[in-house]
Amino acid sequence: MAKTQTITSASSAEYFSKNLQQVGFSSYTKAILTTIKEAVDNSLDACEDAGILPEVSVFVEKLGEGTGKNSESIKVRVEDNGPGLEAEDVVKVFGEYLASSKFGRGRCSRGQQGIGISAVTTWAQLTNARGATVITKTAKMRKAVQCVVEVDIKHNKGVIKSKETIDWDREHGLTCEFIIDARIQLNGEGGLLAYLNGTTLVNPHLTLKYKIPGLEPRPETDDWVTINRVTEVLPEIPDAIEPHPHTMKLGEFIAHSHLFGRVTISAWLKKRFFTHFGQCV
Ligand SMILES: Nc1ncnc2c1ncn2[C@@H]1O[C@H](COP(=O)(O)OP(=O)(O)O)[C@@H](O)[C@H]1O
Ligand SMILES: [Mg+2]
Repeated sequence: MAKTQTITSASSAEYFSKNLQQVGFSSYTKAILTTIKEAVDNSLDACEDAGILPEVSVFVEKLGEGTGKNSESIKVRVEDNGPGLEAEDVVKVFGEYLASSKFGRGRCSRGQQGIGISAVTTWAQLTNARGATVITKTAKMRKAVQCVVEVDIKHNKGVIKSKETIDWDREHGLTCEFIIDARIQLNGEGGLLAYLNGTTLVNPHLTLKYKIPGLEPRPETDDWVTINRVTEVLPEIPDAIEPHPHTMKLGEFIAHSHLFGRVTISAWLKKRFFTHFGQCV
């Protein structure tokens, strides 16, 4: 008699940990680019949401050989002056996939899905056996909290490995640090400099500092490069909009109709879709 199969299900963390190449970890050079980009994107998004002019620093240091063939062990630290995170949210943000403040809010941001920074934690964990080290302080907190967060891959849950309160000379902000297997590529289209310089070009309100091994020595600045903002004006945040019916498939249209309880069709059509007048009425 044929044996019956056992069907089991996997957590989203299990899926991503096995398919990290889909979210930017397809090579050692991309791994460091993605790590920096995910952290900087989050800093920019958080500052934008809080109406803060962003000041972000990116620190990269080579620690020695990596665990993978032809890789190096590299420390990446990204620090911002954003609003910071509440201590209890850090574990979700860094240790859980699909945890985000940006779902379904009807406007664009750099991140949308709550995948990016958890994938970085997973890469650090897989290659260096240690997740994210985070320092966070909100304006309300008297002291900062420093903790190490990892992903419980089996259950897609964040796990706090250590936690302490520390003094931090910032009113608010967040620092995240990862030690990852990677390889630094500075130049060329996929290089770190193209990304960092491009980021300041498209975000003229950003002041960016970076220190990366392999750059021309700059003894007078302790090897930090600073690109100052060229405008003090924050980008205007677009209004959130409802979806346009022409973008919807039949199933989406039906699902959308169930979201608002018992309303008349005419009120639903008028209020829950983007109109041609450029606003929701
Ligand atoms: N540097 C930061 N400062 C404040 N909040 C942050 C920071 N980084 C992440 N967050 C919060 O954590 C959430 C999840 O981040 P992430 O996993 O990268 O997903 P996404 O950026 O797609 O929302 C963000 O939506 C944001 O609310
Ligand atoms: Mg993100």
